Amino acid sequence: MDQTQAPDRAIRVVGVCGSLRSTSYTRMALQVALSGAQELGVQTQLIDLRDYRLVFCDGRSDYETYPDDVSRLRAEVKSAQGILLGTPEYHGSVSGVLKNALDLMSFDEFEGKMVGLIGISAGAMGAINALNALRTVGRSLHAWVVPEQVAVAEVWKVFDAAGNLQDQKIEQRLLELGRQVARFAYLHSAKQAQEFLRLWEQAPANPGGQTHT
Ligand SMILES: Cc1cc2nc3c(=O)[nH]c(=O)nc-3n(C[C@H](O)[C@H](O)[C@H](O)COP(=O)(O)O)c2cc1C
Repeated sequence: MDQTQAPDRAIRVVGVCGSLRSTSYTRMALQVALSGAQELGVQTQLIDLRDYRLVFCDGRSDYETYPDDVSRLRAEVKSAQGILLGTPEYHGSVSGVLKNALDLMSFDEFEGKMVGLIGISAGAMGAINALNALRTVGRSLHAWVVPEQVAVAEVWKVFDAAGNLQDQKIEQRLLELGRQVARFAYLHSAKQAQEFLRLWEQAPANPGGQTHT
């Protein structure tokens, strides 16, 4: 990586897995994407929601009154600059497990962060509906959802029984998604980028609309 624009802190990319199934393909795909991010030297963490005792989001605003694992999840995502979200296609949308985890978080964890999306489906249609739903969630949280995304259709053909990816094109797409999230998280955290954003926020309002004579 080019160190001339070194960010002032280490870059972390986390991957949140939206399936609790013990042999989840979503988790396997996320691990491949995280290894793409690792190639660029960033720290990575797979957030396996089976390891968190979460409750349903009930809309309260005092998040600290939720169980400790909600705070742990929020802190781990908050400390990342890049976030990979992996979801299975469930009834034509994002899994409830992932949506609830996202509902337990807020702007604090997502605003200004790079987000990459992975959708997994058993059917031939792919997980495009889940991916579109997640893209909308990312926008709502003011995250930068990268244009690249990976939709894996008929996933049972793509991994073998031992969980090894058998499709090189999908492997490359997953690796590239991880690299892209890491790369843009890095650029976004660079000192010059931070300075640019500071100046941008102080810039006067665009006078567009005024007539010129
Ligand atoms: C509740 C539920 C709903 C599902 N809905 C769809 C669907 O709409 N389209 C589809 O292609 N597959 C659907 N599937 C299949 C999953 O996408 C598929 O099993 C996927 O591998 C699950 O992800 P995982 O391996 O990470 O657990 C559904 C599975 C479940 C359990």
